[in-house]
Amino acid sequence: MPRLAVLIVAAGKGERTGLGLPKQYEKLAGVPMLRRTVAAFAGYPVQVVIGPGQQEMVAAALKGVTLPPPVVGGATRQESVRLGLEALAGEAPDFVLIHDAARPLVSRKVIADIVAALENGADGALPMLAVADTLRRRDGTGWTLVPREGLYRAQTPQGFAFGKILAAHRTHAANEVTDDVALAELAGLTVEMVEGEEKNIKVTRKEDFALAESLLGADVRTATGYDVHKFTDGDHIWLCGIKVPHSHGLEGHSDADVGLHAITDALLGCIGEGDIGQHFPPTDERWRGAASWQFLDHAASLVAAKGGVINHVDVTLICERPKVGPHRDAMKARIAEILKIASDRVSVKATTTEGLGFTGRREGIAAQAIATVRLS
Ligand code: CTP
Ligand code: MG
Repeated sequence: MPRLAVLIVAAGKGERTGLGLPKQYEKLAGVPMLRRTVAAFAGYPVQVVIGPGQQEMVAAALKGVTLPPPVVGGATRQESVRLGLEALAGEAPDFVLIHDAARPLVSRKVIADIVAALENGADGALPMLAVADTLRRRDGTGWTLVPREGLYRAQTPQGFAFGKILAAHRTHAANEVTDDVALAELAGLTVEMVEGEEKNIKVTRKEDFALAESLLGADVRTATGYDVHKFTDGDHIWLCGIKVPHSHGLEGHSDADVGLHAITDALLGCIGEGDIGQHFPPTDERWRGAASWQFLDHAASLVAAKGGVINHVDVTLICERPKVGPHRDAMKARIAEILKIASDRVSVKATTTEGLGFTGRREGIAAQAIATVRLS
């Protein structure tokens, strides 16, 4: 198996975005762009090249990702690539893929196609796309039509035989070019083309962030939750965060808020985080008589920690009594408040079971919930 390295150049200032941070550290759908680009190469050995003084930004953007320490790049992209290649010279991989941190949407297919071209003996390979728009060049006399036939746009990753591209960068360091294939050609290397992808955009202007986010699509998760508590002596119950006067209480280790428990489980389900009993064991004295909003709040913070946004929660309370209707608006408002979402993203419903089953016999209350979370 040939040895491969991936060089991700992230040493630019991102001046054309006009944003505060260099664009590679800005969030794209909740996750720093560089982190997404690195993730696109999961399973490949990645070396990141950063700008001087960007150490803290890169540490924050790649927190928890195991990578070799970043190499510091230079004033131009070309210099950043050369310094990255020099840093890899010791381990001298067979092939290197050079990729812009600003192209987080690169697909596994493009990566595999480039690697395959190198394995088939090309000195270099790059993804290209035929130009679809009509082109015009602005010149002294106005706008001159440029025939687009045969014109292509070059993307990254650009892959090369490592020793050859390193030599090309060393020899032609003084020739200013905008990509590595241009240098490869100066050095007389054979370069093969693979099909590029429209969605492999280079995030360049501020508005490209919104475009990239829409191209990214969303990871939407839906999960259910279910809970039952038994009636016992008492004069009130807690339902969906509201204290409701009733002829009985509900039995439970906590405040027995069956509605909030069902929603908590639905949210935990969306992020694959087990269930409420796992996070708040009934054997734990800390949770005796606990107010259940804390459980829901905890589930919401776990969702947020994963970059998730709660789109919607819906709960159905199943009981003959108490009547839920008079409390519905207060319940919706309280759930929205705990989850820090708009109340039109919360739904509270109720039903009886026509006297059938344990809820029909008024032995207890059941609740079932569903939640939808958008992960980025
Ligand atoms: N790059 C680099 N070193 C530089 C300049 C650019 O590593 N001195 C990287 C950028 O971080 C980016 C890629 O090369 O991932 C493509 O460059 P570009 O899109 O031009 O990014 P910036 O130079 O950061 O943006 P701008 O030109 O708008 O300032
Ligand atoms: Mg630039």
